[in-house]
Amino acid sequence: MGKPVVFIPSRVPEETVQYLSTVADVDYRDEEEMLDEEDFLEGVSRADGLLIYSRNKIKHDVLERAPKLKAVCNIAVGYDNLDLEDLTRRGIAATNTPDVLTETTADLAFGLLIAAARRIPEADHYVKSGQWSGWLPSLMLGKDVYGATLGIVGYGRIGSAIARRARGFEMKVLYCNPERILGDEQQLGLEYASLDVLLRRSDFVLLQVPLTPRTWGMIGERELALMKKDAFLINSSRGGVVNEDALIKALTEQWIAGAGLDVFAQEPLLAGHPFLTMKNVVTLPHIGSATRETRAAMAMKAAVNMAFILRGERPANLLNP
Ligand code: DGY
Repeated sequence: MGKPVVFIPSRVPEETVQYLSTVADVDYRDEEEMLDEEDFLEGVSRADGLLIYSRNKIKHDVLERAPKLKAVCNIAVGYDNLDLEDLTRRGIAATNTPDVLTETTADLAFGLLIAAARRIPEADHYVKSGQWSGWLPSLMLGKDVYGATLGIVGYGRIGSAIARRARGFEMKVLYCNPERILGDEQQLGLEYASLDVLLRRSDFVLLQVPLTPRTWGMIGERELALMKKDAFLINSSRGGVVNEDALIKALTEQWIAGAGLDVFAQEPLLAGHPFLTMKNVVTLPHIGSATRETRAAMAMKAAVNMAFILRGERPANLLNP
């Protein structure tokens, strides 16, 4: 019997490909852009394993074209791009890459919060576009981060890493989560709150929940209306968690002060999208985990998961129940 085939349809670090080549025949495409659909499906049709980023959706249509598939290893912690139920029904193992991106993603989320509060992208544009005529008493006034109240919605590993950063800014931290995390409540002085209480009291509401049927659209008009008028919404989890029409309305009608968004319901944002011209919205192109070190660690973790599955062993980050 020949080696199993692992299809990698996107650019990953060279050492990931080298590592996988010791256990599989690797069909590797050194591509930044997405492969076109036929090319992708052709690779899938010959693959025993897929090593993919979350931009590749692995749902019913793709699985119907994957007769040999045994493993789907996501290079991401989120896995809403996978139909886990369907994969499990077909006996295909799925994995993700928690832990290695926690701190990097927390850095970005906190940076996004500061950027929105202190209007950093707007100020940068102001200087570079030649509008800066001198120091002005009311120029680019923002909102204090230091000492403010932060509400973290969804308190997993990344939420906890954000709370640690907030401590350095002497913020009051509320969190809302299906379970209480008593250790962090004691160590970091957090306060557990219902979503409504958190929305009413926070200066910054930071979303860090996975996208599931339960969290889809969980921040809509009702929730935004509960927030303070000078509060900011920060989303570095998944765009689908927010009802974007409601958010556009809330920002336009100034129910809230602004937003920092690294993720969107539809990515990339299409030309003409209202967020693109809203000064009180900081937009980023889904770069929560985008550092060289972290992306390399994520790809290697996914590859190690793949090697375990191909050897018939249980991988560390198995998602199937
Ligand atoms: C993740 O790991 O889930 C990042 O958002 C990349 O998709």
